[in-house]
Amino acid sequence: MLIKNASWIRMKEAGSSVVPVFRKTFSGEKPVRKATLEVTCDGVYEAVLNGERVGEFILAPGWTEYSKRLQVQSYDITGLLNNDTGLLNNDTGLLQKENDATGPVNKENVLTVIVGNGWFRRTNAPWTGTKNPDEFLPAMVIAVIHLEYEDGSEELLPTDETWEVSESTITLSGIFPGEDVDMTRELSFEPVVIADYTKEILIPQEGPEVREQERIFPRRSFRTPKNEWVLDFGQNLTGYMYFETDAHAGEKLSFSTAEVLDKEGNFYTGNYRSARSQMHYICREGHQSYKPKLTFFGFRYLRIDEAPQGFSADHVYAIVLHSEMNRTGWLESSNPMLNQLFSNTIWGQKGNYLDIPTDCPQRDERYGWTGDGQIFCRAATYQYDVRQFFKKWLADMRAAQHDNGWVPEVIPSLTAYNPGGAGWSDAVTIIPWQLYETYGDLTFLSEMYEAMKKWIAYIPTVSHTPDLFTGCWTYGDWLALDWPEGYVPENIERAKRGYTDDDLMCSAFYANSVNIVIRTGKMLGQDVTEYEALYERIKAAFRKTFGEKLNTQTEKVLALSFDLAEDPQAVADALAEQIRACGMKLQTGLVGTPRLLHELSRYGYTDIAWSLLLRTEYPGWLYSVSKGATTVWEHWDGIKPDGTFWDDDMNSYNHYAYASVADWVFAVAAGIKPAAPGFARVRIEPHPDPRLNSLSAVFDTVHGRIRSFWKYTEDGIRYEIDTPVETEIVIGGVSRIVGKGKYLFGE
Ligand code: BGC
Repeated sequence: MLIKNASWIRMKEAGSSVVPVFRKTFSGEKPVRKATLEVTCDGVYEAVLNGERVGEFILAPGWTEYSKRLQVQSYDITGLLNNDTGLLNNDTGLLQKENDATGPVNKENVLTVIVGNGWFRRTNAPWTGTKNPDEFLPAMVIAVIHLEYEDGSEELLPTDETWEVSESTITLSGIFPGEDVDMTRELSFEPVVIADYTKEILIPQEGPEVREQERIFPRRSFRTPKNEWVLDFGQNLTGYMYFETDAHAGEKLSFSTAEVLDKEGNFYTGNYRSARSQMHYICREGHQSYKPKLTFFGFRYLRIDEAPQGFSADHVYAIVLHSEMNRTGWLESSNPMLNQLFSNTIWGQKGNYLDIPTDCPQRDERYGWTGDGQIFCRAATYQYDVRQFFKKWLADMRAAQHDNGWVPEVIPSLTAYNPGGAGWSDAVTIIPWQLYETYGDLTFLSEMYEAMKKWIAYIPTVSHTPDLFTGCWTYGDWLALDWPEGYVPENIERAKRGYTDDDLMCSAFYANSVNIVIRTGKMLGQDVTEYEALYERIKAAFRKTFGEKLNTQTEKVLALSFDLAEDPQAVADALAEQIRACGMKLQTGLVGTPRLLHELSRYGYTDIAWSLLLRTEYPGWLYSVSKGATTVWEHWDGIKPDGTFWDDDMNSYNHYAYASVADWVFAVAAGIKPAAPGFARVRIEPHPDPRLNSLSAVFDTVHGRIRSFWKYTEDGIRYEIDTPVETEIVIGGVSRIVGKGKYLFGE
């Protein structure tokens, strides 16, 4: 990377809240054949060359384990140069032409790089320990322009003392607060100073870029009972707003964001907690347009808090952001509510796969929670091609793993060391294995094998019991609903973790992670006898200690899912009975829910799985749909039947953990499962249910497209199956092996 020849630069006197714009003016003395810009910063940046945005990567350089890894972007800027060959206009469609670039462009080239706080210099959620912004590093940038001339000579223009810097028109920038802009501000450039900061952390770009994906226009503009002016985009999304207006200099425009309206129909922002999530813009004279450059929001509604005289919302729209990923999965059924749920699970992924897999995109978290990451990963692999996305995040997980083997609960890491973390830290084994299953790419396993082994080697160093994982911190079956009636747990924090026994849960995940290490080791040709013996010991200890204590739904689900139950059918029978006895309701939390329907189906209770999926009352997947949800909620009753809220504290309306149910629909309801890694061979066993007239699933594997469709007809059930590879099709208990092709069964 040529950038290693450059120096980090900064403003001489800059408080942490200053959003500087760095500038380099240069002239191409000779005709240029190719020009490249390598750049990164300790925040997020937007680079502009001669008035045109450089590249389409929004929020570059993305979020990595910054203490060890900071991505450098490399852009071909030849087409943006203003030299003897003339200015070539690189029209990037969605990206607006910049109007705040500086300097003349007559054969001279002006590159500006504006740097906001981004994830690097963020104020964290209070419970992770608020970082004092005054202690932040100053905004810094490092870059190099590489000019390759027609005559074969080359020139490097690295960041050095010849660059200049000014406070920019952005007066406040952050992931949580949003963006404040003052277009009346005069820029005043001064020389930069060289900053003393490491270059050891610089790595080439690894992840897919976050880009603008689509525009959504407001469905309606209305006044709330409190007389707030609100735009409804009809879809909870992650991105930002765009507007155009005529204005006089100094007039103000302010937007607030919200996911839902309250019971009375007023704008509700309580669930953002400390995330301000607003944009404030001071206009310059004349016609102008703007969209935030260095932040993003999770929202469905925009409140126009202040606007220039005569402002019209006709030129306001939302721009959806997410990491570049190709769509691979589509579901459609005869039930409109279920179709809305399918849409919500897709939007859950769009909204939360923004450079890292986040828990939610709106409140003062937006973290890479490992638990949520592993819970949703399987569904994610059906819906989109996430190989590149996870390659980068898993590299950050390796970088963040402590020397003692502990895997932090959020990646990139932020939380303090907690001995434990089962169900969350186990993402280190579960995700690579899932990616291997879906894509058949062994590098996911080879790259993670050491990290997996380190994690399971760490467990005995903190556990209180040999061959089990006990006495340690875990988030438990987070948000489970299974506290016995009338029982008031000692504190609300504990209540969030459900009633599932911590030691049981941790030990079950320990067994599963060891099991994945065994399978991984075998695939990599490693000797795993030591792990096989360990696994047998864990299983025996689990049965002895917990075999008779499988009380909660999640306890049963974990024993089944990880093959730890001595008599699995009996456990499954008891699980089914328990669900029926409490009125066909699930009581599972984040840990149990994604595995619940799979285990019911595996042991002959697909009818109950369907009942849970199709349930329109609380708690059930279609309840939020009945309340108008366009993404999946964190709490089943985020909005209660009477329109009141669960509470402000943990109330995300775009939390994909329960959207993981999409994988049951693909894998069981439509029946598409891999019979060999990467779906090189497939097993298709659909599980229709008469409560649904038809279901269609399309899934693009690395070997081609699979389609599974079933429909109830007057004479029975018609199945249509397309497969690109050898497949075992099981219908009505009858199995047949078929080759690539289209198949029709029934009437
Ligand atoms: C997140 C969850 C996460 C949890 C840890 C929450 O604040 O939003 O989804 O897994 O913390 O239990």
